[in-house]
Amino acid sequence: MLVFLTAILSTVFRIGSYLFLRVLPSAILRKALPVVYVLYVSSLYLTPTPSTETTTSVTRLEKTRVRITNGSVEEEKEEETIVREYPLEARPDPVLSVLFSIPGPARLLNIANLAINTVLFLFALDFVLYPAYDDAADVVFTRVGAVYPDSAKLVVRYPLNEANATENHVRVLWRQVSALENSAWHVGPVLNLTAADDWVSTASLGGLWPSTNYEYILADAEATPLPYPAEPIKFHTFPDPRIPTGSHFRFVVSSCATPNFPYVPFHGRRIKGFDLLADYLWPQVPSAPIQANATDASNATEATLAMKGDEVPPTEFMLFLGDFIYADVPMYFGDDVESYRRFYRRNYQSPSMRKVYERLPMFHTYDDHEIINNYVGQGNDSTPPFKSADNAFRLYNANANFDPPEHDAHYYDFRYGDVAFFVMDTRRYRSDIREGDEASRTMLGDQQLTALRDWLGRVNNTATFKFIVSSVPFTALWTYEAETDSWNPYTHEKDSLLATMHTVKNVILLSGDRHEFAAVKFNAEGAGHSLIEVSTSPMSMFWVPLVRTLRPRSERTVRRLAEVQREVEGGVVVEEVEEEVPQEEVLKYVPEGNYKWSTFEIDTRDMEHPTARLELMSDGLPVYELEIVGKPVDIRPPATGVEAFVPTGLKGVLDKLGLRPNRWF
Ligand SMILES: *[C@@H]1O[C@H](CO)[C@@H](O)[C@H](O)[C@H]1NC(C)=O
Ligand SMILES: *[C@@H]1O[C@H](CO)[C@@H](O)[C@H](O)[C@H]1NC(C)=O
Ligand SMILES: *[C@@H]1O[C@H](CO)[C@@H](O)[C@H](O)[C@H]1NC(C)=O
Ligand SMILES: *[C@@H]1O[C@H](CO)[C@@H](O)[C@H](O)[C@H]1NC(C)=O
Ligand SMILES: *[C@@H]1O[C@H](CO)[C@@H](O)[C@H](O)[C@H]1NC(C)=O
Ligand SMILES: *[C@@H]1O[C@H](CO)[C@@H](O)[C@H](O)[C@H]1NC(C)=O
Repeated sequence: MLVFLTAILSTVFRIGSYLFLRVLPSAILRKALPVVYVLYVSSLYLTPTPSTETTTSVTRLEKTRVRITNGSVEEEKEEETIVREYPLEARPDPVLSVLFSIPGPARLLNIANLAINTVLFLFALDFVLYPAYDDAADVVFTRVGAVYPDSAKLVVRYPLNEANATENHVRVLWRQVSALENSAWHVGPVLNLTAADDWVSTASLGGLWPSTNYEYILADAEATPLPYPAEPIKFHTFPDPRIPTGSHFRFVVSSCATPNFPYVPFHGRRIKGFDLLADYLWPQVPSAPIQANATDASNATEATLAMKGDEVPPTEFMLFLGDFIYADVPMYFGDDVESYRRFYRRNYQSPSMRKVYERLPMFHTYDDHEIINNYVGQGNDSTPPFKSADNAFRLYNANANFDPPEHDAHYYDFRYGDVAFFVMDTRRYRSDIREGDEASRTMLGDQQLTALRDWLGRVNNTATFKFIVSSVPFTALWTYEAETDSWNPYTHEKDSLLATMHTVKNVILLSGDRHEFAAVKFNAEGAGHSLIEVSTSPMSMFWVPLVRTLRPRSERTVRRLAEVQREVEGGVVVEEVEEEVPQEEVLKYVPEGNYKWSTFEIDTRDMEHPTARLELMSDGLPVYELEIVGKPVDIRPPATGVEAFVPTGLKGVLDKLGLRPNRWF
């Protein structure tokens, strides 16, 4: 009996360890695994050693010996008794006995089984306790945050190793990157790094030119260069938005990252998603020798280079939509400041992430796991553990974001040429859905809501694409936990925002959090502009196999006015027809993949056909593309000419004929 119990416990433990380390690092498994392990070892200890229980078999052997000597035959008879001992139970196959951990008489196999399970247990311990014993206290790093046309924010961490040191002054030396010659370094701002602020600080570098390449290094207060960074860090200022030339650039968006998940032994500092991203952004071109006389090979190479080099615009930044750290997965270490800061240091220590942040500006928002699972702030910063979480998030990520419209806020907006972004804070102000009625709930809080509406009004006719960024999904189609931890319960605020967004051309929502990808279309009532949400995650974390959590469309419908072209004698007329469509419908759903990000390539150079091309990468491979063709936006100064005087009635008629006045001017 006990033999089977041991086998069952061991098998349960092995499956549980696999799930915990490779599939889902859940708190339930974290708590269950030690219990199962202890039970397994106890039952193994209590199992009697089967080799002592034997049975004997007695065989009689008759031996006859014949000897022939000189014609006579001599016969000799002999009898022997053979006693053999057999184990009571049949010996199981050694492979099966290791696979199903069936304790048997063979000591070696029992030890192998115990060793396997103990190693698995140590792996789980390593994964859970890694942040505590590799606390990255010494990590030195610098990265570029917000980039403006004329300035940039830089984050520096440079701890001083001397005992009792409390302050370190680090100076930034910077210069324009020139192809011709290296100019002298300009002496930039000094950062006052203090032990109290975990040796990290943010400085702003001003007086820069738009669309220009710069580089910087770090020096001590006397301007003597420091060993890190070994190579200058390069960045590229954003274009001047006042010059109406259209834009062509890429950016990357994702969320959710934890080092070394799915777990691989001895890779505690790896965040594989960032390794894949670095390979994708800056592929190591295989250094094939150029064969001057092999025409085939050379024109093939040229063709590829022409396609890639010419057409792929620069990737200018990454938007990270939260769950940058998992303060409480797989284990919560407490609500003190150090417990939070440690997780950030750990990410910046990761060689995988270093490859990316030393070359690409990153802009952040937070989500619940920077604070605690499903955090609801209710606009009260005293709600624990917000204060500690907020301190670490500010130091490492938020201080280098774009300046917020309100002092102290985490929401912000920025522009890249004629493309505008608003990044929301969906944690600090959201109300508790268990209190109050639906209409009184808020996700953003009054101030942020006003800021967002103001921004929508401002960018409406001054930006071609408008990206609205939310850490949690805007769509209500995700089920399970997302039914409460998304915009879903905030229907009133969501509907009112949607109504405004539908009056604005080319709005795209970006979100994350679900560890799945989806592109969702929001259809507008009447003639409003429909919009698309793209939700991408995880950057480097679990996804849940087998369970499908996204509904294909909403039950709610809207009556949309669609334009239908009809051929008539002498031409084509555009007619408007009304049709009933789901309010929200899924364009694409990709749950699979531990490492996902979306790349947007924005091209507004042809103002009549601005496009946003989305490429979804999953586990390092392209898996989906979506081309969003925007509507032309007249981003020149407000119309003062003829159009203003075209009576609305006439304008409607012209619209119906497909002759829009704004196409004339
Ligand atoms: C400096 O650190 C040493 C130990 O590293 C300690 O003995 C000494 O008291 C400290 N001095 C001050 C001023 O804190
Ligand atoms: C550096 O910061 C600390 C703490 O904020 C402050 O006490 C100190 O005076 C600062 N040092 C300089 C040189 O600004
Ligand atoms: C072409 O390649 C061959 C060997 O592959 C070499 O012997 C020859 O010199 C090359 N010709 C030219 C023009 O480079
Ligand atoms: C190389 O160029 C030649 C002539 O332009 C063409 O016939 C040939 O197909 C090309 N080879 C490849 C591999 O593209
Ligand atoms: C904010 O939260 C703290 C701690 O939970 C509580 O003591 C305080 O009363 C709250 N303040 C308001 C205005 O709700
Ligand atoms: C955006 O502009 C259009 C007209 O160009 C207007 O109808 C709409 O109300 C505006 N929306 C917002 C939010 O300003």
